[in-house]
Amino acid sequence: MPTIPSGVRGAVITGWGTALPPKVLTNHDLEKMLDTSHDWIVERSGIHERHVGGTTAGLSVESGRKALDMAGIDPLSIDALVLATTTPDRCVPATSATVQQALGLRCGAFDVNAACSGFDYALVQAHGMIALGAKKVLCIGTDTLARITDWTDRNTAVLFADGSGAVVLEAVEGPGQLLGWDLDADGSAEKYLYAELGGNIQMEGKEVFRRAVRIMVDSATKSMSHAGVTADQIALVVPHQANIRIIEAACSRLDIPMEKAAVVLQHTGNTSSASIPLALCDALDNGRVQPGDLVLLVGFGAGMTAASLILQWGGPGGDSKVLA
Ligand code: UT7
Repeated sequence: MPTIPSGVRGAVITGWGTALPPKVLTNHDLEKMLDTSHDWIVERSGIHERHVGGTTAGLSVESGRKALDMAGIDPLSIDALVLATTTPDRCVPATSATVQQALGLRCGAFDVNAACSGFDYALVQAHGMIALGAKKVLCIGTDTLARITDWTDRNTAVLFADGSGAVVLEAVEGPGQLLGWDLDADGSAEKYLYAELGGNIQMEGKEVFRRAVRIMVDSATKSMSHAGVTADQIALVVPHQANIRIIEAACSRLDIPMEKAAVVLQHTGNTSSASIPLALCDALDNGRVQPGDLVLLVGFGAGMTAASLILQWGGPGGDSKVLA
């Protein structure tokens, strides 16, 4: 994967927001529906509860509006909308078209489906458009997996859920926040995690687990190498929120202490494209990122995809100037 050429126009994140459906499904609720237990789910996944309900467009509009409000920018000034989702509301048109209209945007809009790596894929796309002249891009990650989950299948029903997270990227003078990135996919492994059109998620959990740790570590290592940084310099790692044991194993192999990981899965479950932005926004809201900090975003998902980015918060020096 290429390193970032010098002289390209960079970007920084200037606003963010999240949305979770109001309905909470606890492990104890699932105990009444399935042959499972709260203790098993917590021990094997780290999940205590999850939010379910809503549509992909509805949740995206909610998180997207919060991100726009926080950035304090006119929706008409957004140059592109990228919506990462693996659960669009319809086959055609892209759900991003619905979101574009509802948010009052007047710009290109498209969906990206890279499963749980989708938000990282979308962020790379967004930085690419800014390098090509866009000034403001809205990037959203949303999934409504409850709609494609078989609620009688304990292998999957205890894991998946719904949510959304969004960020606004604005062009800056100079190189910006993105220091390194990596996108990967391995179609030969698609059989381990998939949903047919109109069908539910099918998963070989153990095989997905085994591969997940390896491909997250590989992707993160490539991104760090492209960025010219080492694991000890990372201030915060924002991993895909699939399973606390996957996060622990990946952090251990990367030699990044768990205290540096952003984790929200205990309350959100696995929300696929939304999981990385939900964890990132939580860390930002809790003041865990300071200007100049290095942040590693790393995901994996069906495909099997993997993706990662190294962001320096606020750009080099932490105080890059947004272009007017
Ligand atoms: O975004 C990517 C999405 N997917 C993933 O990230 C999934 C990755 N995989 C995983 O997270 C884990 O493999 C699971 C959480 C799915 C399962 O954990 P595990 O430690 O791999 O459990 P297992 O499949 O080896 O099952 C252990 C036992 C089995 O019973 P026996 O054979 O030991 O008697 C299962 O039948 O647990 C049983 N089991 C359950 N028990 C209670 C499987 N699912 C459940 C359940 N509740 N929900």
